Amino acid sequence: MPLSSHEEIHRMRETEARQSRKDWRFILIAIVAGLGGLLFGYDTGVVAGVLLFLNHVFHFDASMKGLFVAIALAAAAVGAAFAGALADAFGRRAVLIVAAVLFSAGAILASVAWTIPVLFLGRVMVGAAIGVSSMITPLYLSEITEAHWRGAIVTINQFYITIGIFVSYVVDYMLSGVTDGWRWMLAIGAIPGFILLGGMMILPESPRWLAGRDLIEKATAGLRFLRGRQDVSEELGDLRRDVVEGSRRAAPWSLLLERKVRKPLIIGIGLAVFQQITGINVVIYFAPTIFQDAGLSSASVSILATVGIGAVNVIMTSVAMRLLDTAGRRRMLLFGLCGMLVSLIVIGIGFMIQLHGALAYIIVGMVAIFVAFFAIGLGPIFWLMISEIFPLAIRGRAMSIATVANWVSNMVISGIFLDLLLMIGRGPTFIFYASMTVLAILFTLWIVPETKGKTLEQIEDSL
Ligand code: BGC
Repeated sequence: MPLSSHEEIHRMRETEARQSRKDWRFILIAIVAGLGGLLFGYDTGVVAGVLLFLNHVFHFDASMKGLFVAIALAAAAVGAAFAGALADAFGRRAVLIVAAVLFSAGAILASVAWTIPVLFLGRVMVGAAIGVSSMITPLYLSEITEAHWRGAIVTINQFYITIGIFVSYVVDYMLSGVTDGWRWMLAIGAIPGFILLGGMMILPESPRWLAGRDLIEKATAGLRFLRGRQDVSEELGDLRRDVVEGSRRAAPWSLLLERKVRKPLIIGIGLAVFQQITGINVVIYFAPTIFQDAGLSSASVSILATVGIGAVNVIMTSVAMRLLDTAGRRRMLLFGLCGMLVSLIVIGIGFMIQLHGALAYIIVGMVAIFVAFFAIGLGPIFWLMISEIFPLAIRGRAMSIATVANWVSNMVISGIFLDLLLMIGRGPTFIFYASMTVLAILFTLWIVPETKGKTLEQIEDSL
């Protein structure tokens, strides 16, 4: 029977309303998805500008500066190590809310710090929040979003990290001439923290986690909210089956020692360590310091050059996102590593033959090229690979091991950088990173597989 025009209009209105409700949910989820990466990038990148002030305010020497950078990274490693267990026990949402509070409270505390211990305490809080959210944001999002945009989240996350770093550099630049500018640089990190907190207050707990605890009513309500419709019985059924299947397949920790997991674990941990030990964060955190050493005149010129580096990082990461599925991971990884190697050697030699004055711009250019090659290779590919190579039964735990390995190596490399400069000099320091890049190339040739276009099951079989 044909619908009367009145009924038809009513239906159309209802569909439209449902659509727009769905849209704002989509936007909210996308914002929260972005914030995890953005905060990761902002709060790690911002130290580049802050460091330039700390000599004057707290009379920091090289070791203290190193400690200032490393302490947040150490807290991030600890946060990432415990995040999975906490999120299983208390729920993803609760843990993310605590992380959001820590982000904001830590940023404010560090920004008003009047003594070194208070400054460090603030950074420890922020660091722990970074570690937790670097693990739990992708987990939560992959659980609440529909399957077809799950894959995108992994690479989008890296893209937001680079945007966070870029924004922190712009803020550093704008505040570099302001008295007490460093306090504002740190304080601004509280804003995305508050937005994350607000977003998490609105978003529901992961229905999958709720279903896993037999809280079916809450899971249903959550799904209804997320999908913007009343009938979620089909998805709920799938979800419950998935949970049962998951617990059937859940493997003991000892599986990590078995042969079939050994190879992916070597790849994951290897890439985690090489991503850091080849020196990326020495550039990301200390670029203005490096540029001043190379002879750039003032703090603000050095920070401006750093803004350029941040832009290169964002642009090349977006190029990588387009290429990864066509050119292939292994090829891009090798290509990126070779480019990093050449630029590191030139930077090392540049410092050894004391390039100064106008020639210092060669070093700035080479640093930009180094970052560009990192951004199309090792940067996104590490995070992508660790979400692809582990067998399902052990994926979560294996990913957190690789993530912790990444934070710990980051902490060690960044923490000792300034001391290394004093001990062996600038040129040899960069030649050291170059030699680590050679090892990374050999490692990739030896063991890293091509995962382009394969299903997760095919990857699991091939390993
Ligand atoms: C790394 C970070 C780094 C960032 C730079 C990420 O993949 O894990 O340590 O600061 O890339 O873009």
